[in-house]
Amino acid sequence: MKAVVIEKFGSPDGLAVVDVPVPVPAPGQVRIATEAIGVGGVDAVIRRGTLAAYGFREGHLLGSEVAGSVTAVGEGVDDSWIGRRVWAFTGLSGGYAEQAVAAVEDVLPMPAGLFSADAVALGGSGVVAHFALERARFAAGETVLVRGAAGSIGITALQLAARGGAGAVVVTASSAERGARLRGLGATEVLDRSGEGGPDAPRGFDVVIDVVGGPQLPLFLDKLNANGRYVSVGVVGGQPPADFGMRLMDAFRRSLSFATFSSDTVPGPERQAVRSSQFADAAQGTLRTVVHEVLPLDQAAQAHREMDAGTVFGRIVLVP
Ligand SMILES: NC(=O)c1ccc[n+]([C@@H]2O[C@H](COP(=O)([O-])OP(=O)(O)OC[C@H]3O[C@@H](n4cnc5c(N)ncnc54)[C@H](OP(=O)(O)O)[C@@H]3O)[C@@H](O)[C@H]2O)c1
Repeated sequence: MKAVVIEKFGSPDGLAVVDVPVPVPAPGQVRIATEAIGVGGVDAVIRRGTLAAYGFREGHLLGSEVAGSVTAVGEGVDDSWIGRRVWAFTGLSGGYAEQAVAAVEDVLPMPAGLFSADAVALGGSGVVAHFALERARFAAGETVLVRGAAGSIGITALQLAARGGAGAVVVTASSAERGARLRGLGATEVLDRSGEGGPDAPRGFDVVIDVVGGPQLPLFLDKLNANGRYVSVGVVGGQPPADFGMRLMDAFRRSLSFATFSSDTVPGPERQAVRSSQFADAAQGTLRTVVHEVLPLDQAAQAHREMDAGTVFGRIVLVP
């Protein structure tokens, strides 16, 4: 079968389309003929070689999120899975391929009416948005800022905050055009990447959901209201300054909270329950997903070039 591997760490030119054997599902796994493959920020991080210290090597078959039909099951998995349309998390490898394997507990049947491309735009990121707001103890009436809202995590987070009755849903975006698109999804005000602009935006926020991190994180910590909660879910802008915690100590009397959140810490059945409910909402059109572009699998390098250029709004999806 056709698959895309990292032949050489670094630029997208190091990705190669290769022929590899069709994977055989191990005990507890299913095999899926892919219809849609999500291209995520973490794929780019692995491709650059940034995670080589974690054991990623050249030759790695990229991809963690697919949707398609089950074609085979491993020992211990019920045959009734065969033929079902499913979404699956494949771990940190194996997704950029015509067939992929996943542990059955990471596989979820898709409701009728949900397109495969929409499932891979929502499946992994939607739960991050949901549980980040939950960990932030977001409540109706509160002001929320989503930093880095034009990715698939932010797009879901801003919609969940809006439908949860937020007093304001403010986002950051790098252009007026991207800001306008986010308004179309429920944002009430748009700030630039430095947190400036939005003349009618609240001056402070009860909740900040941050996908970006990076050197400017302290500027956004300063925007918390007293008793405000800041949840960091990603570092697409790099790591924050090492001493950013001093900002919290300096504001000691305002009772601020800072947390990191990874969906890895949520028990699998809870993740699946939220994902299932979000899939139903997406199938009914009450939760919107944004597919930036659908490209053939053998143009994975082009997908990565667009990610590196920062032109993606939502998620790129590959199809075999
Ligand atoms: N916590 C978890 O459980 C979990 C799970 C999966 C992934 N992640 C993490 O989430 C991140 C990916 O999320 P995503 O796919 O939603 O994000 P994304 O699409 O990669 O980026 C979101 C937005 O951030 C803005 N941005 C990008 N680079 C920036 C920079 N250098 N400075 C400021 N803004 C920047 C861009 O919007 P503008 O150009 O409009 O500003 C971009 O559209 C990764 O860090 C990944 O590791 C976390």
